[in-house]
Amino acid sequence: MEQTVKIVVDGKTFRLPMITGSEGERVIDISGLRKETGLVTLDPGFANTASCQSRITFVDGERGILRYRGIPVEQLAKHSTFVETAYLLINGELPTQKQLNRFSVLLNDHSLVHEDMQAFFQNFPRSAHPMGILSSMVNALRAFYPEIPERSEEEEIDITVTRLLSKVRTMAAMSYKIFRGHKVVYPRHDLTYAANFLNMMFDSPVRPYDIDEDLVKALNVFWILHADHEQNCSTAAVRVVGSAKVNLYAAISAGICALWGPLHGGANQAVVEMVSQIHKNGGDMAPLIARAKDKNDPFRLMGFGHRVYKTYDPRARVMKKVCDSVLCKLTGHDPLLDIAKGLEEVALKDPYFIDHHLYPNVDFYSGILLRAIGIPLNMFTVLFAIGRLPGWISQWRESIDDPGWKIDRPRQVYIGPGERDYVPIKKRGRQTRRKDEKN
Ligand code: SDX
Repeated sequence: MEQTVKIVVDGKTFRLPMITGSEGERVIDISGLRKETGLVTLDPGFANTASCQSRITFVDGERGILRYRGIPVEQLAKHSTFVETAYLLINGELPTQKQLNRFSVLLNDHSLVHEDMQAFFQNFPRSAHPMGILSSMVNALRAFYPEIPERSEEEEIDITVTRLLSKVRTMAAMSYKIFRGHKVVYPRHDLTYAANFLNMMFDSPVRPYDIDEDLVKALNVFWILHADHEQNCSTAAVRVVGSAKVNLYAAISAGICALWGPLHGGANQAVVEMVSQIHKNGGDMAPLIARAKDKNDPFRLMGFGHRVYKTYDPRARVMKKVCDSVLCKLTGHDPLLDIAKGLEEVALKDPYFIDHHLYPNVDFYSGILLRAIGIPLNMFTVLFAIGRLPGWISQWRESIDDPGWKIDRPRQVYIGPGERDYVPIKKRGRQTRRKDEKN
């Protein structure tokens, strides 16, 4: 029997259907609310509102669970690669060896960037943030790779998807080289996805880059942990922009812009800046903890808290272990990691953080890992964007394949002035003066 909820409006009873997700989460379906009752709902930040039904990622914020297509992220981090996880997210199943080989060949075939795009990179001001460059260049891809009418929509999407996955990685490394005035390093057919990125970033004609398999593994784990996270801010941006039937490059460019924000993907850069500040102050973290707890201070402890996780973010747990192993191998230790661990220890014992369910999130340790690998601070969020790409793509694809799909257009509650007449400019000042005199 269909489950429903009852609401009474002006003495009249209405029943709204309830649906249950595959993990038992119960949802009130309000898609017919306005038609039935004339009412809409208000939910700033959508903390209580599901925008879609999805088969891609499951997050349980109370139990600290994250699964991609049903597979726990911890297992993928341990056994999989980023390319294989990207295939899983986009296609719904882990690939056979044959499917994986074909996917890898396609990624390799699409790894070059049109030579004319280099001029774009060369003409950005050197102060430009790599996230602003990346969102512009991803949008520019449509100009260089226009739709080919003879191709079917399915073929067009498949090629665009592999182009984006491969070229975004190449463009990120290219912008880094060009900004440093160094020779661009091209992708190599004999290197895997992550190894190619590291080589394009750090190889040089005078100092060949030795590819360290432990760093390649660490980068794969970093990207796997970032690959998708249900309807986060940037994914919601990709779905909203994509709902207007714009091309995928433009929708992804919108996602990159949303991820740039310090409350979202920009937090990994902000965490390292915050922890470096503590290091400069001789390790005293008390002032920042006090500011984070001060209701009158907008400062937030970067890398802490989450809209969904009210316990430890499972990704932060894995990231912390990878930090330990990479740092052990490379430099022995990083004072910033010691400070981060100390900060976590103090915060998790503090009633404020306990009462607010504030734990380390994915960004808390990720920046320290990227720093150890040698990624420059202002590219941390770019690395997050490369990782999130398969998630954005799979969510976009699910939305356009949804038979019930329609353009996203939220309602609002109007609280502005009632109807009033236009006032000719000569009469306006008097009005405000009269109003001021009255007050
Ligand atoms: C990501 O959504 C996703 O899935 C995102 C992400 C993904 O994979 O896509 O997981 C990636 O964006 C991780 C989050 C990275 N951002 C940060 O680390 C920035 C610091 N964190 C906060 O800004 C905050 O925790 C958010 C933005 C992450 C979540 O904010 P919410 O859910 O809107 O919660 P809120 O701001 O309403 O805070 C609720 C309470 C407030 O206190 P009260 O007014 O209720 O007393 O918790 C407090 C806040 O002051 N609070 C914090 C805090 N985070 C929340 N206080 C101090 N430090 C913090 N970090």
